[in-house]
Amino acid sequence: MNLPCVPLFLWLLMREEGILTLHLIDDNDNNCCSVNTGSRHGSIGNRKRERQGRTPVAWLPTEPAGREHPRHNISKRSIMNKAVLLFCLLQVLLSAADDHYCQSTLPVFTPTPGYRLEFVQTVTRHGARTPIYLVPPVEQPLVEWNCKLHELVKPSQQDHSVRYDTTKRLFRKVYRDGVETLKGNCNFGQLTDVGYSQHLELGQALRKVYADGFNLFGPQPKLSQIRVRSTDVYRTLQSAQAGLTGMFPEHTSIRGVETLLVETTDNSLEDMTPNSAVCPPLQTEMNRLHASKEWTDQQEKTRNLTETLQKAFGVSTLPPWDGLYDIYQLRRCANLPVPKEITEDLFQQIRLAAEWEVNVTAYDPAVGRYGMGTFLNLIKENIQNYVKNGTSEVKYLLYSGHDSTVAPLLGLLNIYDGLWPPFRAYVNFELYSRDGEHFVQVKYNGKEMKLPACEKVMCPVKTVLAFFQERVVTPQQCGRVQPAVYARRA
Ligand SMILES: *[C@@H]1O[C@H](CO)[C@@H](O)[C@H](O)[C@H]1NC(C)=O
Ligand SMILES: *[C@@H]1O[C@H](CO)[C@@H](O)[C@H](O)[C@H]1NC(C)=O
Ligand SMILES: *[C@@H]1O[C@H](CO)[C@@H](O)[C@H](O)[C@H]1NC(C)=O
Ligand SMILES: *[C@@H]1O[C@H](CO)[C@@H](O)[C@H](O)[C@H]1NC(C)=O
Repeated sequence: MNLPCVPLFLWLLMREEGILTLHLIDDNDNNCCSVNTGSRHGSIGNRKRERQGRTPVAWLPTEPAGREHPRHNISKRSIMNKAVLLFCLLQVLLSAADDHYCQSTLPVFTPTPGYRLEFVQTVTRHGARTPIYLVPPVEQPLVEWNCKLHELVKPSQQDHSVRYDTTKRLFRKVYRDGVETLKGNCNFGQLTDVGYSQHLELGQALRKVYADGFNLFGPQPKLSQIRVRSTDVYRTLQSAQAGLTGMFPEHTSIRGVETLLVETTDNSLEDMTPNSAVCPPLQTEMNRLHASKEWTDQQEKTRNLTETLQKAFGVSTLPPWDGLYDIYQLRRCANLPVPKEITEDLFQQIRLAAEWEVNVTAYDPAVGRYGMGTFLNLIKENIQNYVKNGTSEVKYLLYSGHDSTVAPLLGLLNIYDGLWPPFRAYVNFELYSRDGEHFVQVKYNGKEMKLPACEKVMCPVKTVLAFFQERVVTPQQCGRVQPAVYARRA
């Protein structure tokens, strides 16, 4: 889709004698020419360079620093070139805007006069990643994934804040070149460089909103004021770390290095995504949904699409819709080629088929309750406890999860928009006070959401807790919980 732009752009650059420099706001990661954001997470200490979470990046070729742009003689040709270039850019920006999936919008500070923010819980989806599905005949041409994000680790027998790294050595796991299922040097579902930057930017934006705007943490934010939980998956752990690095860039420990706990759970007992090992009735309800008329009618409706795709690829089976959608949507976001068989029209049909299934599942009350009810109960109890005690040292809780966290949670609350939760999707549960009364506001990707039980987005805490209470499950309602023998893939 964006590809015609590239040769045109290069040709025009050559016509302009290679000295034209364009600055583009890199607010969306699926622009025409892939942009190297690799150095950004290396410069965490340098916050002054990070303006509003948006970093202007130079489009190649860049100029040596300190040199003034040479003035071009204005000729008709030059004007024409620039017009075409602008048109091309516009096309790219417009087409990027189509794919809401690639990146959520950042939050902005929108206080409600008279209300004081006291306590926040944020539930996120990780940033951009490599695919988690691969079906070779459908994957052609094989695209190469290039991962630049590193994980530098060091096992330690003591807390780093006591004595840090006298060996000055960290370890990096590298995926052996050419022995990966995905072509390139990436693992399945690995957080990409772009994905890391997305959460770093979200953290910076949340700091502006909660620390600078609402003064949630007081004059000196401390790590003891936050708690972090993540599924035990690299991409969610890393996304949480990126977000917190953006949100709390300063060291608060006098010893120079501090340790922040990121709480996690075995996959088999994780309830941040629907898990029938945690709540067994979920499986029964899923089976019921999949046997329902609504579901089988939809299979009929997508039969033509299935057959069209099977014919196009010469295969008899296809990945599920969410898998096919994942494969091609991720390529679009990463500006990697999509097979010619996947026309824009077919891609949109695949997207709708995938989103239909997610939406219907998310809005099924029983599936939602048994799937996300224990997690919602935790959110509810945290609010309840805060209100009961009147305050808490912990002001901010971060839960780093998946699309399969965000969509069913929003569905359970009746506020899901039916679109696939984008990379870096986030839901904020904000607790406010006013004249001794407490209120809750829910926001999805920065947008204020009105819960069905509420008259306004700023809703009395009693109303919200009662609304949550109708949707939570207790361990008793889930029955006897037996940890699954196998690990469930989140
Ligand atoms: C560009 O302008 C400069 C100075 O005005 C002039 O010397 C030069 O000949 C011009 N070049 C072209 C290609 O018009
Ligand atoms: C089936 O899908 C193809 C491709 O989208 C379309 O051209 C064709 O008209 C459809 N056929 C029917 C019967 O809907
Ligand atoms: C309860 O409130 C007191 C102050 O009133 C505070 O010191 C304490 O940390 C709170 N407890 C919890 C669990 O947040
Ligand atoms: C999602 O499902 C809900 C409940 O059935 C429905 O009201 C809504 O229109 C659906 N949204 C989309 C985008 O299909």
